[in-house]
Amino acid sequence: MVAWQEINHQVQSWLKEVRTMILAEMKQQQIQVEQKTCRTDLVTNVDREVEAFYSQKIKESFANSKIHGEECEHATGLHEHPGLFWLIDPIDGTLNFIQQEADFATMLAIFENGKPKLAYIYDVMHDELFWGGPECGVYCNEKEITPPSNCPLEKGLFAMGGNLVLHNRYNIQKIAQQSLGVRVYGCAGIEFTRVLTGKTVGYLACLCPWDYAAGTILAETLGLVVKTIDGQPVNMLSSTDVLVATKSAHKEILKAIHQD
Ligand code: 2AM
Ligand code: CA
Repeated sequence: MVAWQEINHQVQSWLKEVRTMILAEMKQQQIQVEQKTCRTDLVTNVDREVEAFYSQKIKESFANSKIHGEECEHATGLHEHPGLFWLIDPIDGTLNFIQQEADFATMLAIFENGKPKLAYIYDVMHDELFWGGPECGVYCNEKEITPPSNCPLEKGLFAMGGNLVLHNRYNIQKIAQQSLGVRVYGCAGIEFTRVLTGKTVGYLACLCPWDYAAGTILAETLGLVVKTIDGQPVNMLSSTDVLVATKSAHKEILKAIHQD
């Protein structure tokens, strides 16, 4: 086993370098945007450069690692890999990055022998790094986060992915009506941090593994519930509908989803 402190020390220094890189590229205003599958699914040169930077650093420092990233590196077999497995989302919330220059994150999730080890969600513009894991607890920068209270749906804000709202999937309007209000921030990592800190009681969206892996590790460390819409554990290997919530809100949301 690799000591979590050893990994953490390196990763935090890479994240600071990545923040400096991203801010410099934004200042130069030379961000190149390309479409992936459709006009709302975009990638930039910054996404690719950041992923390449992490991959190089990981290979230099932790040679026997496997890497699976959104843009370039595609490894398989997280659960079989007898060592470190890294999931990278170089820029989460790429549309926010392009359109708003805010509310995006850079994320890493690390597994060892198939088990969650460490996770990082870095809100670049606010310079807030959410990090931690089962061996060390969860922090925002240097401050440890205490688990949020078990707030019910009707007393909290509920966040969701834009696509679910547009198509009213899973009775989502009903869930929204039961809550105190709805929020759509457009960045899965930042949505997870709002549940971690008790600002929202839950978040439901259709996500890829690199979108939900880091948030899932941090949320489960704090005793929050992270499940698929069928109440199954998320497997970190495939795209799925993911619900993260307090225990109370989770029960109420699943009830509303399966009512009709
Ligand atoms: P991304 O920016 O890394 O693609 C937007 O609601 C959130 O959902 C973002 O975190 C975004 O991650 C993620 N997402 C997952 N699949 C998506 C898709 N097909 N199109 C747009 N956003 C997607
Ligand atoms: Ca991304």
